[in-house]
Amino acid sequence: MAKFFFLVSGENPTLPFAEVKAILEAENHAYSVLFRLTQVLVLKSDPRCIESVAHRSSLTRACGPFIAHCKASPEEILNTIEKADLSLHIAPGESFAVRIKRIRGSSPQIDGLSLERKIGRIIFNSVKGTRVNLERPEKIFLGILSDENFIFGLKTVEIKTGEFIKRGPSRTVFSHSAAMPPKMARCMVNLARPKTGDLVFDPFCGTGSFLVEAGLIGCRIIGSDIKRRMIEGSIQNLSVCGVEPEGLLIADARVPPFPSESVDCIVTDPPYGTSTTTLGMRTSEVFKSFLSATRGFLKKGGRLCLAAPKRVDVSRIAKELGFKHQESHFIYIHRRLTREIAVFTI
Ligand SMILES: C[S@@+](CC[C@H](N)C(=O)[O-])C[C@H]1O[C@@H](n2cnc3c(N)ncnc32)[C@H](O)[C@@H]1O
Repeated sequence: MAKFFFLVSGENPTLPFAEVKAILEAENHAYSVLFRLTQVLVLKSDPRCIESVAHRSSLTRACGPFIAHCKASPEEILNTIEKADLSLHIAPGESFAVRIKRIRGSSPQIDGLSLERKIGRIIFNSVKGTRVNLERPEKIFLGILSDENFIFGLKTVEIKTGEFIKRGPSRTVFSHSAAMPPKMARCMVNLARPKTGDLVFDPFCGTGSFLVEAGLIGCRIIGSDIKRRMIEGSIQNLSVCGVEPEGLLIADARVPPFPSESVDCIVTDPPYGTSTTTLGMRTSEVFKSFLSATRGFLKKGGRLCLAAPKRVDVSRIAKELGFKHQESHFIYIHRRLTREIAVFTI
């Protein structure tokens, strides 16, 4: 086991950390969390964990081997880096750059540019034959200032959000105001912890956002929606993204279309009665009837990740129906809607 740092998005206080852990669990990487700061997670795991996060995560920004950590004072930072064995991370002949990332104005007394130069000099002096290249370095050392702490690591992975933006509502073939943004859809798929090849089902698939994201990380996918228009739209969106579903059906989520225990994970966003119809039912009734129907066709140990308005108290409903509540995260959308992202097992 080695130590790794993860610099995550600041758009939600808990979801990005939960996503990293869910990915490690889905891909069978044993891990133990060492510490967590605002937008930074440091943990021990096997070196392949980095590839898994790079391949799947939507809310991680960068990650790589962890080198050192100290209080954020200029003297302590330079002393700590002097003591680190930098030859483990850069070899003679290689070029490098040092970047400092400040989270939410942490340690304003520290001059980032001057710190980059001083750390650069330490690396240059301690591993002979290295050279600075600010434009196209072979190695990027990242120093993060967060919560008055300094975390130093080698950035081996940078996750760009451009691909998620490309799949967003303004660019998809078929869009709808209720569509889940791709980044959040990917995060929710990850929270359900499917492995490559697992069967992921969305019974309220709408435009197919969850199915696209699950398909792109190598899951088999199946979706249904009560509206023909939505199924036709999903077919178009999946095809544009090069994802082939095992099936897309026009079906009522309250009437399970599958044999029992046939699905590994369910990831879904049932209608709340605002931009999509609940067909005259109260929102809590939709959740109750869908959850009781769902229970039977999820495999033992399978997971369900769903979005619900906080006021519905979906965790209570699901627990009453025999689901085990694993985790919940909350996203403020507007004055009348805080969304709960909840994960359950059976
Ligand atoms: C909130 S939207 C889902 C949006 C979807 N996650 C996306 O990203 O496009 C809810 C969907 O549930 C569908 N729906 C409503 N009642 C249903 C039912 N009883 N069974 C199946 N689908 C239903 C609606 O047609 C709508 O497409």
